[in-house]
Amino acid sequence: MSIRFDEAALTWHLSGAGLSYVVGVGDGLPRQLHWGPAIPEGAVPALTREWREGYSFDDRLHTGAELLGELGPQFATPSLQLRHPDGAKGFDWHYRDHEIDGDALALSFTDRDLVLTLHYRLWDTGVLDRWASIEAGAAVEVTRFDSAAWTLPHWADYRLSHLSGEWAGEWQLRRVPLAVGETVLGSRRGNTSHQANPWIAVDDGTATETTGTVYSANLAWSGSWRVQIRRSAQGRVSVTGGAGQEGLRWTLRPGETWTTPVYSGLCSDEGFGGASRAWHEHLRRHVLPTAEEDAPVLFNSWEAVFFEVSEEKQLPLVDLAARVGCEQFVVDDGWFGRRLSDDAGLGDWWHNPDRFPNGLGPLIDAVHKAGMKFGIWVEPEMVNPDSDLYRAHPDWVHSQAGRERTQLRQQMVLDYGRPEVADWAFGWLDKLLGDNAIDFVKWDHNRPFTEVGRAGDDDPDRAYFEHVEAVYALKDRLRRNHPDVRIEGCAGGAARVDPGILRYVDQVWTSDNTDAGDRVNIQYGFSQAYPARAMGAWVTDEPSGFNHRTTSLRFRFQVASAGVLAVGGDLSEWSEAELDEAAEHISLYKRLRPVVQHGVQHRLGDPESDPLTGVQYVRGDQIAVLAFKTPWHCNRPLAPLRPFGIDADSRWTDEDTGETYWGATLNALGLPLRWAKADWDSAILRLRKVQ
Ligand code: DGJ
Repeated sequence: MSIRFDEAALTWHLSGAGLSYVVGVGDGLPRQLHWGPAIPEGAVPALTREWREGYSFDDRLHTGAELLGELGPQFATPSLQLRHPDGAKGFDWHYRDHEIDGDALALSFTDRDLVLTLHYRLWDTGVLDRWASIEAGAAVEVTRFDSAAWTLPHWADYRLSHLSGEWAGEWQLRRVPLAVGETVLGSRRGNTSHQANPWIAVDDGTATETTGTVYSANLAWSGSWRVQIRRSAQGRVSVTGGAGQEGLRWTLRPGETWTTPVYSGLCSDEGFGGASRAWHEHLRRHVLPTAEEDAPVLFNSWEAVFFEVSEEKQLPLVDLAARVGCEQFVVDDGWFGRRLSDDAGLGDWWHNPDRFPNGLGPLIDAVHKAGMKFGIWVEPEMVNPDSDLYRAHPDWVHSQAGRERTQLRQQMVLDYGRPEVADWAFGWLDKLLGDNAIDFVKWDHNRPFTEVGRAGDDDPDRAYFEHVEAVYALKDRLRRNHPDVRIEGCAGGAARVDPGILRYVDQVWTSDNTDAGDRVNIQYGFSQAYPARAMGAWVTDEPSGFNHRTTSLRFRFQVASAGVLAVGGDLSEWSEAELDEAAEHISLYKRLRPVVQHGVQHRLGDPESDPLTGVQYVRGDQIAVLAFKTPWHCNRPLAPLRPFGIDADSRWTDEDTGETYWGATLNALGLPLRWAKADWDSAILRLRKVQ
C-alpha cells in the first residue's frame, strides 16, 4: 500500500492491491478523481481537469464530491447538513493540511470554528475504508453527517444489487436497473434491520457472477442508517452513506469531536463473485476477531424446547448432542428470572432457581464433562415491564415525555447511552462470565427501537448513536476481560449483521428461518456480502414452522454444512438411526470445515433461477462443493454443475471414493454429483489435487 502526495496539484494517490484511489482538492472542494484499476503516478495530474463546464441549471454531482454539501450548485441530497447558530448552513471547504500515517490518510478542512477531516485507509484486500470527523470549536447543529460519498465511473447504464427481506426471510438479493433520481435504502429501526442491509453493488448492467466490473460498498454501523444512490439525468452516479435516519438532529458541543462510522468500498473486475470474495477475505482478515479459528459445531436448545429450559430437560440433550459430535452446547432463552415465556424476565439476569436448583454449575459441568464447550443466551439491551429491573428503574428505557412506551414482544429497549445502564450491563455480564465456566455467549436483540430519547434531555437524538457505540464498547470490554469467550451476534435472526458488529462477534445468526429449502436462497444472499465463517446454520426438525416443507435429514445437514454447522432440532425425538446418520454428517462436516470456513468461495448458479446450484470452496489443494437441487421437473433444463477455475491439465481425486478426474473432464462434463431424488436433494464432493 502506498500514498503519494503531489503538493503542486494537491492530489493524494492511494494505491495497492491492484487499485488506485485519487483524491484532489483543486478548488477547495475535495473530489474523487479516480477509483479503479491501478494507474501510473504520471497519469495523476491529468485527472485534475474538470470533466466539463457546468451551466447554470446543472449541479455538481458530476464533480465527484467526497462529501456532497449544501453550498453552491449542489442540488442532490447532501451527505453533510449543518446549521450554525447564526442561521448559516453548510460547510465551506478550506483545505488546511494532511497527515499520512502508514496506510492511512487524513485530509483536514476548516470553516468557521469547525475542522472537518476526511479519513482514508486502503487495505491489502483492495477495500478502502472511509470515514469523517468534525472537531467543533463552537456549537453546530447537525442533521446529516455521512461517512463518505463515492463516485462511480461514467457508464452508459447502471444496475443496483442490494439485500432486502423481513424477519425469517432475510438476505433476498434484488438486482434492479438504477433509477434516474435518488434511490434510498436504509433502516429507521435503530438497528441494521432485517428489511435492508447496507451492502450494495453497482455495475453497468452487464456484469455476471464471474465477469465484469462491480463496485460495492458496505457500512460498519449497527444502528439506523441511510444509503442514497444518486443517478443524475446526465448519467453520473454517486453513493452517499452513513449512520442515522432522515429527520434526526443533534448539536455538536464546543470542543467535541464527532466521528462517523467507517464506510468501506471496493471494486472488482471478476464480477459479483469477485466482489463477494474480496468482502469475505477482508472481513475474515481484518474485521472478525477470531476468523482464523475453526468455529465449533454447536447444539442450540431453542427449537428443541423453546422456553421449557431446565437442568432436568437439558441434561439428556447434552448426552445426545455429544453423541452426534457437537462440540458446543448452547442454552437458549428461558434460563433466567421468571422467563417462562416472552412475557417476562428480561432484565433479571440470574438463574431461575426452580429450573436450575443448584445454579448453572451442574449443567456446565455436565457439558464440559461430555467434551463440549458451554454457551448461554442473553439479551442485555432489553427489558420486560414484568421484571424486577423495570420495576426498580422504569426510567432506564428509551422514552419520550408524554408518549406511550411501545412494547414489541412485550419488551422495551434499555437506554445504553446512560452510563449507569451500560455499567449495570457490564457488571452482570462480567460476573456471569467470571462466576461460570462459560465459553460462548449468544447475544440476542429482539425488537427495533421506538420513542428513542430521554424525557427532559435537550439533545435526545444522540441516544440513537450512543446506544450503538455503547453496545460496541460493552462487547469490546467483555472480550478483553474474557478473551476466551466467543460471541454470536443475533437479532431475532439477522437484524444486526453489518461490518460494524462483526468487529465484536465471532459469528452471526443468519435467520430464524431454519427451513433448509428456504436456506438455500437465504445463504446465497448472505454470501454476497459476508463469509461462510460467520454464517450460523442449524439443522432443525421438519416440517418447519415456516412453510411446513419436509426434506431429508441429509439435505438439511448438507445445506447447513455450507456455513458454521449447528444442530437445533429436538434430539430427544430423533430415532437411533437418525442420531447415527447425524453423527456421520457431522463427522463429514469436520473434514470439510477447514475448506468451508477458511476457503475461498465461488457460487455456482443462482437458486432464484437455477434448480441446481452449488457452493464451491477452495483452500490450497482442496476443493469442497456443496450442491443443492431445489424443485425440479422434467421440462426444466438441468445443466450439469461445472466447477470454477480448474485447470484442464490438473488431476483431482475424489476424497470419498478415491476416483480420479482430469480437470478437463470436470470442466467439460460437469462435477460427478450423485443424486437420489428429483427435489430437495443435495450432494457433497471433496476433491484433492493430485500433485
Ligand atoms: C430470537 C433468536 O433469533 C432465536 O434463535 C432465539 O434465540 C429466540 N430469539 C429466543 O427468544
